[in-house]
Amino acid sequence: MALNDRFLNPQMGRILRTLGFDKVWTGGEGAHLIDADGERYLDLFGGYGVFAIGRNHPEAIAAVEEVMAARTGNLPQLGVTLLSGVLAEQLLSRAPDSVGAMVPANSGTEAVEAAIKIARAATGRPRVLYAEHAFHGLTLGSLSINGNSEFRDGFGPLLPGCEAVGFGDLDALEHELEGGDVAAFIVEPVQGKGVNLPADGYLLSAQRLCRDAGALFVCDEVQTGIGRTGRFLALEHWDLQPDIICVAKALSGGLVPIGAVLVSRAAFDTVFDGMERAVRHGSTFGGNDLAAAAALATLRVLDREGLVERSQRLGALLLELTEPLVERFDVVKEVRGIGLMWAIEFGPPEGASARRLWRTVEARQPGLFSQLVTVPLFHEHRILCQVAGHHMNVIKALPALTIEEDEIRRFADALTQTIAAADRYPVALARFGLRTGLRAALARR
Ligand SMILES: Cc1ncc(COP(=O)(O)O)c(C=O)c1O
Repeated sequence: MALNDRFLNPQMGRILRTLGFDKVWTGGEGAHLIDADGERYLDLFGGYGVFAIGRNHPEAIAAVEEVMAARTGNLPQLGVTLLSGVLAEQLLSRAPDSVGAMVPANSGTEAVEAAIKIARAATGRPRVLYAEHAFHGLTLGSLSINGNSEFRDGFGPLLPGCEAVGFGDLDALEHELEGGDVAAFIVEPVQGKGVNLPADGYLLSAQRLCRDAGALFVCDEVQTGIGRTGRFLALEHWDLQPDIICVAKALSGGLVPIGAVLVSRAAFDTVFDGMERAVRHGSTFGGNDLAAAAALATLRVLDREGLVERSQRLGALLLELTEPLVERFDVVKEVRGIGLMWAIEFGPPEGASARRLWRTVEARQPGLFSQLVTVPLFHEHRILCQVAGHHMNVIKALPALTIEEDEIRRFADALTQTIAAADRYPVALARFGLRTGLRAALARR
């Protein structure tokens, strides 16, 4: 923490100390983080969703070690390597027929940047449409199609020609496409910020509108891909055939950063249309052997351990256990999820005085109620989970797909107890305020 405060991000240090999350993490295994006292914490944060096969999976570690021991001819640059080729083959064999080539990358946002560039170059059009509340990463291109002002503000001017449409609003999409100048509509099949599920028929209709307008339909599966939603790619739920698909995060096995852009053969061949254009997009470490080995091991583990099916089954169980909370507690407005991508949303309780108190507190400290749940979950139940975005009372879970059924049940029980305590809002709030010093912070405001 001292090094963090001195050289990294002291504001993050303040948050961690305020909430009492300033643990010394000494290990990780499967669905758990382990602290310096050897205590295991159920990790529902999942490193922002990278640990689909669990932390430190032995097979993924062995694959990386094997590549290092083999002293491979990595990164020849003017040359090709086996592992990248096999990874492309493996990923494309699991993807819809609409894509036929892979562009390697090192992260989610880099994959999205590539998608923006490829869409512009393939169509010769400038504009990119995205959904409100979208999150595609934080580099400038991805930030230009980010639907959250708390990330965008202060970094402008961003890319021109980027326009938001409502997630689910087909009329707005059609309207924006009318000008014939749109290169692509980029959308997360399930939005990560808030875990927003698409309305029935929305994505397929959006894809059709894009096709009709000559714009590319791009699915950002950086968070939803690699088994998270109970399918290898979330787009399988709706039989989508996108022109471009971005994956990253869990493909890494939680070990080596990676991203990949799966592109239609037609778009790819338009962009890379001659020998002099063979290197017009790429990056030094894209397609490196260590990342490819970790990714291939991830795919193997996913298949052998049946993790995609497991994600569907345990996700259904988590919903079944937590959906009754809507009936049981006034403050629980919705529980939603697909596979092991799950969220619970809180809102003002019934009753004039309780509602007034909620509004007063939330006006000063938006999202505070969620902290009344996440903080005791951490301290009293050793469960780490995240608030799903700024200014929203949504808690989100992205556990390892290897999570045990018992742990799902333990989470549902702990959540119920914690909401019951937080539901006694004024008391809980006072206790929380005393504990964290937030009361002082609020008073100062
Ligand atoms: C849907 C989506 N796209 C892109 C990104 C950016 O990925 P990265 O953080 O690896 O740049 C994220 C990260 O959370 C994401 O959820």
